[in-house]
Amino acid sequence: MNYKDKYGPYALITGASSGIGKEFAKQLAQKGLNLVLVARRKEKLETLKREIQTDNKVEIHTIGVDLLSDNFLETIRAVTDNLEIGLLVNNAGVMYIGNYLDCPLEKDLQMIDLNIKVPAILTHHFVPKMVERKKGGLIFTASMLGFMGTPYATTYAGTKAHEIVKGEGLAYELKPHNIDVLTLNPGLTETEMTADNDFSGMPMKLMKPDVVAKTAIDALGKKVLVTPGFMNNMLNWMSKRIMSRKMNTKMFGKLMKKTF
Ligand SMILES: NC(=O)c1ccc[n+]([C@@H]2O[C@H](COP(=O)([O-])OP(=O)(O)OC[C@H]3O[C@@H](n4cnc5c(N)ncnc54)[C@H](OP(=O)(O)O)[C@@H]3O)[C@@H](O)[C@H]2O)c1
Repeated sequence: MNYKDKYGPYALITGASSGIGKEFAKQLAQKGLNLVLVARRKEKLETLKREIQTDNKVEIHTIGVDLLSDNFLETIRAVTDNLEIGLLVNNAGVMYIGNYLDCPLEKDLQMIDLNIKVPAILTHHFVPKMVERKKGGLIFTASMLGFMGTPYATTYAGTKAHEIVKGEGLAYELKPHNIDVLTLNPGLTETEMTADNDFSGMPMKLMKPDVVAKTAIDALGKKVLVTPGFMNNMLNWMSKRIMSRKMNTKMFGKLMKKTF
């Protein structure tokens, strides 16, 4: 079964207006998938739609919606109820870097809502329809920071740990339904999210978002967890094989403190 047959006809991507989500959109269109692009900045989605349709014969719907609003699912359903969503890419996310106690509670809760609650709502809505069709795919964009307690990004890392563990469990549960689940764990990536911090003291360079998205697109159906980049994988290997959890947290505490 080819990519389009297994994960088409439509892929829904949250956070498609920039960064990794935008690259998911471009590359999934190249695989022949029609798209539903979701983010707040509708004008960016419309520009991306035009750009993609210049080179690819695919249908694209854009939905400008704040995923933190109460009725976001109704807004999405108004467009998608008559579409077959064969691939759900839960990618939209926010991060706060800084002292935990300086992060207002509201911001802390927004991170939990956007990074955990929104993917849960979308997964509950779209995956049962994939089960009925006996095929589909689900991608969570988590983060390498989800592999360890991360000082100065505590809640963010916690939300990503949630997605990692959830993705692993779901991959097992949904396999008999012919639904592939992948959790993508990028390291530092050059996007709007990382634009305001100084990551020059980190041991690895920022990766390009197109490479990150490609890694996930290629790994879907083959792996359950994937981390893009040789250096990131080296770090993962060291974290698991050589260092204790405590040592990892200490090392990341020192590195993260220099970034804000
Ligand atoms: N960059 C990194 O180093 C890195 C590393 C590991 C993991 N990640 C993860 O990768 C994913 C994508 O992030 P990115 O790096 O590509 O950052 P980004 O360029 O900031 O993209 C974030 C996307 O989420 C959307 N978004 C944010 N808040 C939203 C809201 N309330 N409602 C709807 N959409 C919202 C943004 O669109 P609008 O502003 O238009 O709404 C944007 O399209 C995130 O889950 C992030 O945690 C990033």
